[in-house]
Amino acid sequence: MLHGRRVLIGLGGGIAAYKVCEVISTLFKAEVQVRAILTQASQEFITPLTVTTLSRHPAYTDEVFWQPIHTRPVHIELGEWADVFVIAPLTANTLGKLAHGLADNLLTNTVLASSCPVLLAPAMNTQMWEQQSVQRNWQHLLSDRRYHSVGPDAGLLACDRVGSGRIAEPPDIIAAIQSLLHAGGKRDLVGKRVLISTGGTREHLDPVRFIGNPSTGKMGLAVAQAAMHRGATVTLVHAPIAWNVPLGMRAIPVVSAAQMQQAVLEWFPGADIIVMAAAVADVKPAEYAAEKLPKKLLPTSLPLESVPDILAELGQRKQPHQCLIGFAAQTGDIVTPALQKLNEKKLDCIVANPIDRPDSGFGSDTNQAILIDKQGRQVEIEPCSKLQLAHHLLDFVLYPEVRIQSIE
Ligand code: CTP
Repeated sequence: MLHGRRVLIGLGGGIAAYKVCEVISTLFKAEVQVRAILTQASQEFITPLTVTTLSRHPAYTDEVFWQPIHTRPVHIELGEWADVFVIAPLTANTLGKLAHGLADNLLTNTVLASSCPVLLAPAMNTQMWEQQSVQRNWQHLLSDRRYHSVGPDAGLLACDRVGSGRIAEPPDIIAAIQSLLHAGGKRDLVGKRVLISTGGTREHLDPVRFIGNPSTGKMGLAVAQAAMHRGATVTLVHAPIAWNVPLGMRAIPVVSAAQMQQAVLEWFPGADIIVMAAAVADVKPAEYAAEKLPKKLLPTSLPLESVPDILAELGQRKQPHQCLIGFAAQTGDIVTPALQKLNEKKLDCIVANPIDRPDSGFGSDTNQAILIDKQGRQVEIEPCSKLQLAHHLLDFVLYPEVRIQSIE
């Protein structure tokens, strides 16, 4: 998804520029070609040398822009070169200029001289971010399909205020870049509502002990991110997970299968695409002790009850316009049991996912799968990032006429 692609980063003048250095470094390590433009103000926070060192390429500044040289103008060259243009941190000043089509430095001239998707990562003080004029500019700019956004987050700002305006975290910026590179800026899920479950449910025996599984929820999160980046309204029902749900999606935390069932059924009728990526516990202890059981009172064998199969219930309730997707985490032969689940649970598509290989399954950052739909199409996705697998899955259900051959 990233290897060999060309990402142009425009740094504005804000302290968040130091976080963008991490983005540049991560992109370089992922073998992305990175070029960076620094505005005059950004150089008060970081130097061209920092960015040159991290990107392994001389940084571009306004000084370079105004040099009388006999080659093609640098803003034209850079604009044509980039697959994606990321402006981070986006300041109120640069935002205002872009919203009004103004160009008075290398960064803004390059935006106007290019046609690739532009990802904006704003960062400023809450008071500044919430100004009507700034918000007007922001909404105006985003109404142009060329511009995409990541953040801003809320939290402790460099001005000691707690509020919105903090730059998105580097992994969220990287994920947004990956999605833009995959989809080429296409927002083919605008107006669609996508419901996703993820994480491993827990069935408690007492307040401390539970029956669970090693799912970390990364795969479902990747599907949620991919759908959000492609314009969907996303609801993520998640069992306990170790990370924060990114801004921009509705997050519903649950613990047990029964709670997940309740939340999923509530949001199901309004959803267009439903992805059950959660590892739902299949059984629960027959009895629950409200107080922690002392060790000596713990049973030596545990009577169990089965929990409802949420996906099978969704299959019964599914309307013709809804697309229902399940996961089959399997060992050994992955296709036969996945096909059985696809048919028995009345699904549109299932992700047959091997969990006994080193580069896929629980907790891994990568995954592989065979995508199978009810018409009998099967596509094998070789090991790739979970975000990339998520995009392949969305392509598979959105474009049934296209045979996906491009496999990582
Ligand atoms: N699932 C569910 N509710 C359950 C169990 C599973 O909604 N109680 C969903 C999972 O989210 C997944 C799919 O069903 O999308 C398949 O889950 P999996 O655990 O692989 O299969 P099971 O149907 O539980 O069958 P088995 O454990 O026998 O393989």
